[in-house]
Amino acid sequence: MKILVTGAAGFIGSNFVYFMLEKHPDYQIVGLDLLTYAGNLKTLKTAMEHPNFTFTKGDIADRDYIFHLFETEKFDIVVNFAAESHVDRSILDPGVFLRTNIIGTQILMDACREYGIERYHQVSTDEVYGDLPLDRPDLFFTEETPLHTSSPYSAAKASADLLVLAYHRTFGLPVSITRCSNNYGPYHFPEKLIPLIISRALADESLPVYGTGENVRDWLYVKDHCEAIDLVIHKGKVGEVYNVGGHNERTNLEVVKAVLHELGKPESLITYVGDRKGHDMRYAIDPTKISNELGWEPTIKFDDGIKMTVQWYLDNREWWEDIINGDYQNYYQTMYSNRS
Ligand code: NAD
Ligand code: DAU
Repeated sequence: MKILVTGAAGFIGSNFVYFMLEKHPDYQIVGLDLLTYAGNLKTLKTAMEHPNFTFTKGDIADRDYIFHLFETEKFDIVVNFAAESHVDRSILDPGVFLRTNIIGTQILMDACREYGIERYHQVSTDEVYGDLPLDRPDLFFTEETPLHTSSPYSAAKASADLLVLAYHRTFGLPVSITRCSNNYGPYHFPEKLIPLIISRALADESLPVYGTGENVRDWLYVKDHCEAIDLVIHKGKVGEVYNVGGHNERTNLEVVKAVLHELGKPESLITYVGDRKGHDMRYAIDPTKISNELGWEPTIKFDDGIKMTVQWYLDNREWWEDIINGDYQNYYQTMYSNRS
C-alpha cells in the first residue's frame, strides 16, 4: 500500500505520518508539502530516517508537478491535508486560500482520475457548518447540517468539500471526507490559540483573547483525529462524510486558563483584544455516525491532552523558538498591533 500524504510538514499531516508509520509498518508513505510558512521539515526529521518514508517538496495546485508525481509513484490512497489553515490570515489575504484549498483539491482529484487510486480522502473541518449559538447547548453539527461558512478559510474548505462530492457523483471517484473539530497537540504552529498561549506565557507576555473569550471550540487531541482518518480510509464508505469530535467543548477563556494552570503562570497575563471579524461563536460536533459505523471513540481526555501538549512544548523549545524568532515576529506585529 502506498499513501500520499499532502501537507505532511504541517501540524496534523506530520502527526498522521508518524501515526501511520507506527500503525502500518508495511505501508510506503510519501509526504508532500510546499513548505509554506506553516510547513517545517524539522518536524519530519525522524520520519526521514524511516525506510518507508520519502518526502517531496511541491505545490498541490501545480498541475504539471502533481501529474508527473502521480505518473511516477502510483499511489493507492491520497490523504489531502495540504491547505492554508489559519482563519485570521484568510481575513487578511483570501486569495491563496482559494488557490490551495480549492484549486489544489481539484488538481489532486484530476490526477487521481487520470492515474487511478483506491481512495481520495479530503481532510475537512467543522468550520464548514458555520457556528452554533451559545444559548443552545442542545444543538450539534451532524453530517446533515447545511454548509454555512463565515470566513474565507471556511468558505474555501466548504467549496473543496462540494467539489469532492461532485467528483464522486459525476466521475465515480472513490472519495471520503472527514470534518473534524479543533485539534491540539505536538507540532501545532504557534499562530493558533493553544501554542500561541503556551509560547507567550512562557515568556511572560500578554495573552491576546479575542472579544470576551466566551467563544466555544470542541477540542480533540491530534492523535485521535489521525486514528479517525485511518479508520475512514480503510473502512469508511465511499462517497460519505464523517464528522469527528470528542464532545470536548471549552470556552477560549477556559482553555487559556487551563494552559496557565499547567504552566504555573498568572491569569493576569490575559489581555482582551478586539474580536476576529465574523468570529464563529460555537463549534460542537456530533460524532455518532463515525462511532456507530466504524467504532471510533476519542481516547485522550482534555485534561490529559493539555498536560501532554504543554509538556511537549516545554521539551521541544527549539522547534517553536526557531519559528517565533523568524518571520513570525512580523506576522504577530501585523496581526495584533491594531487589535486593542
Ligand atoms: P497547517 O497549516 O499546520 O499545515 C498545512 C500544511 O500544508 C503546511 O505544512 C503547508 O506548508 C502545506 N501547504 C500549504 N499550501 C500548500 C500547497 N499549495 N501545496 C502543498 N502543501 C501546502 O494546518 P493543519 O492544522 O495541520 O491542518 C491540516 C488540514 O486539516 C487542513 O486541511 C485543515 O483545514 C484541516 N483541519 C485542521 C484542524 C485544526 O484544528 N488544525 C481541524 C480540522 C481540520
Ligand atoms: O474547528 C477546526 C478549525 O480549528 C480548523 O479548521 C482550522 O484550520 C484551525 O485553525 C482551527 O480554527 P480556529 O479559528 O477555531 O482556531 P484558532 O486557534 O485560530 O482559534 C481558536 C479560538 O481562539 C477562536 O475562537 C479564536 C480565538 N483566538 C485565537 C487566537 C489565535 C484568540 O482568542 N486569540 C488568539 O490570539
